[in-house]
This record gives sequence, structure tokens and C-alpha cells, in this order.
Amino acid sequence: MTNIISNIWELYGIKENPFSTLPILVIGGTITVESFVGRSDDILKMRRIIGSKGGSRIFVYGDVGVGKTSFVNVVRHSALENGLFTPFKEIAVQEDWDTNDLILNTLSAIFGTLKLLKEKPISNATFEKLESLFEIGKISRSGGISIAGFGGEYAKEQKTDTLLTTNLHTFFQEIITEINDKTKKETVIHYNNLEVLPEKKIRYIFENLRDFFQTTGVHFIFVGNLMVFSTVQSIPRFASNLSDIFHLETLGLEEVEEVIRKRFNTLRISSDYNIIFPYADDCLSILYDLMEGNIRNILNSLSTAVLEITTERPIILDRNKLARTLKSVLEKKFLHNLTDRPKEVLKEMVKHKEITNKALSDKLKIPRSNLSSYIKDLESKGCVYLRRKNGKDKFWSTSSNIKWSLLEEAPQQTLSIFRNPT
Ligand SMILES: Nc1ncnc2c1ncn2[C@@H]1O[C@H](COP(=O)(O)OP(=O)(O)OP(=O)(O)O)[C@@H](O)[C@H]1O
Ligand SMILES: [Mg+2]
Repeated sequence: MTNIISNIWELYGIKENPFSTLPILVIGGTITVESFVGRSDDILKMRRIIGSKGGSRIFVYGDVGVGKTSFVNVVRHSALENGLFTPFKEIAVQEDWDTNDLILNTLSAIFGTLKLLKEKPISNATFEKLESLFEIGKISRSGGISIAGFGGEYAKEQKTDTLLTTNLHTFFQEIITEINDKTKKETVIHYNNLEVLPEKKIRYIFENLRDFFQTTGVHFIFVGNLMVFSTVQSIPRFASNLSDIFHLETLGLEEVEEVIRKRFNTLRISSDYNIIFPYADDCLSILYDLMEGNIRNILNSLSTAVLEITTERPIILDRNKLARTLKSVLEKKFLHNLTDRPKEVLKEMVKHKEITNKALSDKLKIPRSNLSSYIKDLESKGCVYLRRKNGKDKFWSTSSNIKWSLLEEAPQQTLSIFRNPT
């Protein structure tokens, strides 16, 4: 270990971590929309929906880390380029939201973006009304909504009971009408990570904000993981109002390769220098298979391995170094403080893409109640997560890091005459 803090990525000829797992942003970001790969049919389809007048409700779902947020952001980037209005930052849904929180945060996201725009597609009066809603020390001048002084991001504690959903909804409609009149286009609103809301909340919010989500001229995009999909299906009032559903699958191996190549090119220090890829060819396909194509998990594995192994010179990971490095990180960070039983549970779980409590307890011959408490414990330690539900059945998966335990070093070299022809 050295105690010199340096940017190890320079050793590879690039400015920063090319394996960052942050989503692609609508605007800005060092890893830009140009580095997005694939999904061209879905992009076209969604562009067509939000390009059609009237508004819509679109649901995008897929496994954790497949690229949902990036996908929607890339579509919104092109919507912006086509003159539609959309708050730059996706709206991150919070666990404790009620209906008013959702509308207020929508208004706040719109306000945040309007503030940045030199030319605002909205009248001064309306902008000031928004300002008075969110900025400290300003009082609403124009009557209507009198909820001044929330301060920047709308804070829950400051909520007053006098807030009326209908008032907020009317104000939202006014704003949208103005914006859409100015842009001659429509508005796109992106709610991200619906899975943080408890099932009951999702049900409550969608049943009570049905009219809000029908606002004409607005395309509402809801993003969630597989869990949310099960919930949504059980809320007919919501499901029947959706204009379209997008299920995002994992990218192909070649697409993942292209993502990484593009990132290295974007991040290269200068065209005068070489880029060094920190892994040999087979590493990527090994990780691709191990992570079943999940791009977030592939990037995270490469990032972890390279950061762990690099000190003073660039290292090129081969299959063996990759396995050794990631297994040692796994041991240090996740496994060392687990007792035998939970370890045994993990060892079985990691063999399956997903597995129910019942199947696990049958396989391991551990009573269901004991097993549940092991799983709770493993969940709190970030080793497993609830992937989806189907009726009463809960399907659990191990987090990607646990899958590193399945990496194997190459078999010992034997004389070539004994090797199977490949
Ligand atoms: N099609 C793509 N092209 C290029 N990069 C991608 C693509 N899809 C995903 N990525 C990258 O993979 C990572 C994960 O993507 P993203 O955060 O969008 O996934 P997500 O499904 O929204 O995850 P979560 O379930 O955690 O919300 C990000 O670093 C993103 O830049
Ligand atoms: Mg996301």
C-alpha cells in the first residue's frame, strides 16, 4: 500500500474511472449520451410516443442496473434537442412521499431546470409564483397557493396540512399549459426508482393521482425494477392507464464491449498517448457470463479489480488475476464476518439467478423461520436482495459481489497432447 493519493487511471492513459456505474445524464456528465449503446428500437419507439401530442404514461422496468435510468435520460436528451421541455434531473422518488410530495417535487424539478434556462418558456409571473413556492423568505404574491418558504428542495417537516392536492394540480396544469404554448411541444417528466416506495404507497399514490397523471401535454415516464412491475400489475387502475410498457433486457456482450471502448476513447488523456486496457480479452466475457450480462455489475467488477490491484504501474488482468483479486475483495469486505450458516445459505443462493425461501429451505433442510432470519441478516449486510415477487412467492438473488465467489482460475496447463481440442 502506498499512501500517495494519485489518480491511477492516468497509468492507463485516461482521465478518470471508465467503469463508473453512474447513469448517463440528460445534460453534462463526463460520460455523455454519445457513449450510450444499443436499444435503438426502444429509443425510436419511445421517441415516437413522446413526439405525439396529448401526453402519455410510460412504464419502464427491468432488473437492477440494466440501464433503465440511462435509457430514459438518453431519450429525454433527444427530446430536449427537439424542443420539448423536461427537467434535466430525473425525479428520485422517496420512500416517505405522499401525493402532495410527488406533485411538489415535480414542481420543484421543473423550477430547478427553469432557473438554469436563460430563456424560460414561461412568464415572469408564473416563474415568480414557483419561486415563492420554493425559495426561503419569499411570500407568494399572487394568492392561489400560499405555501411560501419551503426552501430549495421541498422538505417534509415543513409540510402544512393546508396544502391541497387540487391546488397543486391546478398550478401544475397552468405551468404546463404555459410551457407547452411557448415551446409548441410537450413536456416529459421522469420519475425514477419507484421501487423505493412500499407497495401500499404505490397503490395509494396512483389511485389518488390518477387525474394528475392524465394532465394533457405531459408524458410521464415511470421507472422501476422487477419488483415494481409485480406491484403495478396488481393495481389495475394504474396498469390500465399506461400508454406503453418497456421491458429492458441486458445488453449483448458486444454491446458491453462497445460501451467500454467508447468510454476509454472519451476519457483518453490525449490522442498523443496510448490507452492501455487493464484486462485481457477473456476477462470481459467471463464477467459477462458471470453477471448474466448485467452492465452495472460488469463495470463494477472491473472497477473494483483494477482499483484493488493497481499501485504504481498499469496491470493487465488475466483470468487468474481477476479471480484472485475479486475473491480476495469479497472475503475482506463481505464474507469475513459471516457465521457458517448464513455462509452456507449464500453458497447455495449464488448458484441460482433467483430462488424462493421455500426452495432454499427444502434444499438446505433449514426450517423456513430460521432461513428467513438468515436472509434478513444477509439483506441488511448487502449480500442479497429481493429481486421480484409473484403472488406470495419472494424471489431472492445474491448481490453481484457475492457472484465473484464463482470465478475460477484457469486449470493448470497440461501437455497439449492431453488437452481436448477446442
Ligand atoms: N445502453 C447503454 N450504453 C452505455 N452505457 C450504459 C447503457 N446502459 C447502461 N449503461 C451504464 O451502465 C450503468 C448502469 O446503468 P443505469 O444506472 O442506467 O441502470 P439502472 O437500470 O437505472 O440501475 P438501477 O436499477 O440501479 O436504477 C451506468 O454506468 C450506465 O452509464
Ligand atoms: Mg436507475
